[in-house]
Amino acid sequence: MSLAINIAGVKFENPIWAASGTFGTGEEFLDFVDLDKIGAVVTKTVTLEARVGNPAPRIVETASGMLNSIGLENKGIDHCVKETIPFLRKYRTKIVVSIAGNGLSDYTECARRLSGKNAPDMIEINLSCPNVTHKGAKHALFAQDGALTGEIVRAVKRETDIPSITKLTPNVTDITEIAIAAEKAGTDALALVNTYFGMAIDSGTGKPVLGRVTGGLSGPAIKPMALKAVYDVYKKVKVPIIGIGGIMTAECAVEFMLAGARAIQVGTANFVDPRSTMKILQGVEAHLGEKGIKDINELTGKAHG
Ligand SMILES: Cc1cc2nc3c(=O)[nH]c(=O)nc-3n(C[C@H](O)[C@H](O)[C@H](O)COP(=O)(O)O)c2cc1C
Repeated sequence: MSLAINIAGVKFENPIWAASGTFGTGEEFLDFVDLDKIGAVVTKTVTLEARVGNPAPRIVETASGMLNSIGLENKGIDHCVKETIPFLRKYRTKIVVSIAGNGLSDYTECARRLSGKNAPDMIEINLSCPNVTHKGAKHALFAQDGALTGEIVRAVKRETDIPSITKLTPNVTDITEIAIAAEKAGTDALALVNTYFGMAIDSGTGKPVLGRVTGGLSGPAIKPMALKAVYDVYKKVKVPIIGIGGIMTAECAVEFMLAGARAIQVGTANFVDPRSTMKILQGVEAHLGEKGIKDINELTGKAHG
């Protein structure tokens, strides 16, 4: 039985990855997860300079999910190149570094700094963080604008040979339009989805709960919507899709693959059970065995008939 997948020439041992922002650098999970086993670790999004993130409280539990407004707290791209990548290189897991910035030149500079001796296997271009503000931008998120998405993807592609994944927001009228724009600009793969805009208000104090007022919703609450996003985008693009959103079990992972995902990322589940990625991997393997499927790639898109 083969669980191996190939995205843009990069061979992953399996399609079960840890999602950005929910798995630290991987080091925090060493007591729970065998980093030789999971397909890839997507790092917390890094920016050119270190950031402290948003005011507390930054996390609140909701029915079937959680809201976060972390705001890209990170130690900056140079720290990632010097510390995070060499740490992860000790393991067989593939390394995907997630990058973000205030504008196009931040993205290209991050890509440039990643392209030296300690290069990751792939770059995830995060155009969809709901918890930061871009001065003067027409939209709250870069990935709400197809033209801007295309521009940033093209610029990163020009800057580096490292294959890229473009991470999209579901906070748009039609995510397929943005996916097509990213594909036309040359992205090697798409990751969907990031969190959905949301908020919580405390009826007792009468005030918003999150320090930044609004945040991003994740977890089982978003799964049916994220699944539909993958299903819809699969019909419109040829590049591989990485499915994300409320994947808590092996069954969820299989459903995303049937909808069209080549790989999946586990996010909020890591907070519920830090062993989630390992358990999902074992469960997917068992599923293939039960169904007599020899190659996991056979699952991708099967729900489309
Ligand atoms: C606490 C927290 C922090 C996150 N930080 C990032 C981030 O830095 N970059 C990013 O692309 N996505 C970030 N995300 C979004 C996740 O990677 C994922 O796209 C989203 O949570 C949906 O998946 P899930 O429902 O499995 O959590 C974060 C999510 C959470 C819950």
